[in-house]
Amino acid sequence: MGYKVVVAGATGNVGHEMLNILAERQFPVDEIAALASRRSLGTEVSFGDRTLVTKDIEQFDFTGWDIALFAIGSDATKEYAPRAAKAGCMVIDNSSLYRYDRDVPLIVPEVNPEAVAGCTKRNIIANPNCSTAQMVVALKPLHDRAKIKRVVVSTYQSVSGSGKEAMDELWDQTKGMYVPSQEVAPKVYPKQIAFNVIPHIDVFLDDGSTKEEWKMVAETKKIIDPAIKITATCVRVPVFVGHSEAVNVEFEEFLDEDEARDILREAPGIMVVDKREDGGYVTPVECVGDFATFVSRIRQDSTIENGLNIWVVSDNLRKGAALNAVQIAELVGREVLKKG
Ligand SMILES: NC(=O)c1ccc[n+]([C@@H]2O[C@H](COP(=O)([O-])OP(=O)(O)OC[C@H]3O[C@@H](n4cnc5c(N)ncnc54)[C@H](OP(=O)(O)O)[C@@H]3O)[C@@H](O)[C@H]2O)c1
Repeated sequence: MGYKVVVAGATGNVGHEMLNILAERQFPVDEIAALASRRSLGTEVSFGDRTLVTKDIEQFDFTGWDIALFAIGSDATKEYAPRAAKAGCMVIDNSSLYRYDRDVPLIVPEVNPEAVAGCTKRNIIANPNCSTAQMVVALKPLHDRAKIKRVVVSTYQSVSGSGKEAMDELWDQTKGMYVPSQEVAPKVYPKQIAFNVIPHIDVFLDDGSTKEEWKMVAETKKIIDPAIKITATCVRVPVFVGHSEAVNVEFEEFLDEDEARDILREAPGIMVVDKREDGGYVTPVECVGDFATFVSRIRQDSTIENGLNIWVVSDNLRKGAALNAVQIAELVGREVLKKG
């Protein structure tokens, strides 16, 4: 027996990947509904070798549906997630709306699957920010061995993290660089993204950090350990898909780089590619379409007592969003709904 599954935001970047991953992982689906805004009513989307016709979320009745994977942004989520949850459907949400709510578990299944126990309080589970998800997968097994004191992370985030309009902006601006009559002014981003990098993701906060940086701090604490000190600088780069992160970690105990490599090789969801030679590391274009979080450039930081540097790369639409959401759905199926 399978589940009745809703994908809300089926016409978007993340929704598209959710449908792909549900099919790839053969999630036990009895019935599936693809939802988006009224603008997309009737739009066809693929689910394995089937074609689904998108419905208007406003008209949709969630009664009798088991799981709803949401990827529609915070404003629309505020309206429709409570409606789905109230109808008895377990919402797994990709927006940031519920991530910091004490009654809503924030889950990365390789890291804190036990948090699923709290999901029936509101019938909502939050999926973390894309940059947080891949980083905590890499940090957790190291934390278990040597206890992390402090993390300094710099991100190199692809434009797909800002949705499909941002991907178009990078594409059009890049073409416009070669054809002067087709120059494209920045619209999604505050400055030109083609052939550039922008040290600004989401809104600025009073202390000078950005909301994206704050999210990495708050979410890492909620998912792994509130005692970890963390500081982040989040940067948008002209890459279509795949986020990269340079992560500096300070531990309570000494952790040798070879032992760290062995621990990461054994850890769930991680693929270590770490040869000290030309090309012996992973770059974003190589991680697209993959389930794994890749870790490269594992090396001691000898400027502090117990320091390590790592390079973490993953497909932000997959581990950063859709894959993690489907893994949560699998967890809910196993631990909560128990139909399969
Ligand atoms: N991209 C990432 O790496 C990433 C990672 C983690 C979390 N997220 C989150 O996932 C969500 C979706 O991101 P995305 O990258 O997939 O964006 P996207 O490509 O711009 O797609 C947005 C989707 O939301 C739907 N939508 C927008 N307004 C709606 C409304 N009022 N009612 C119903 N549906 C509505 C759109 O439907 P129409 O086509 O009908 O407009 C579309 O299906 C966001 O909350 C984002 O923060 C994204």
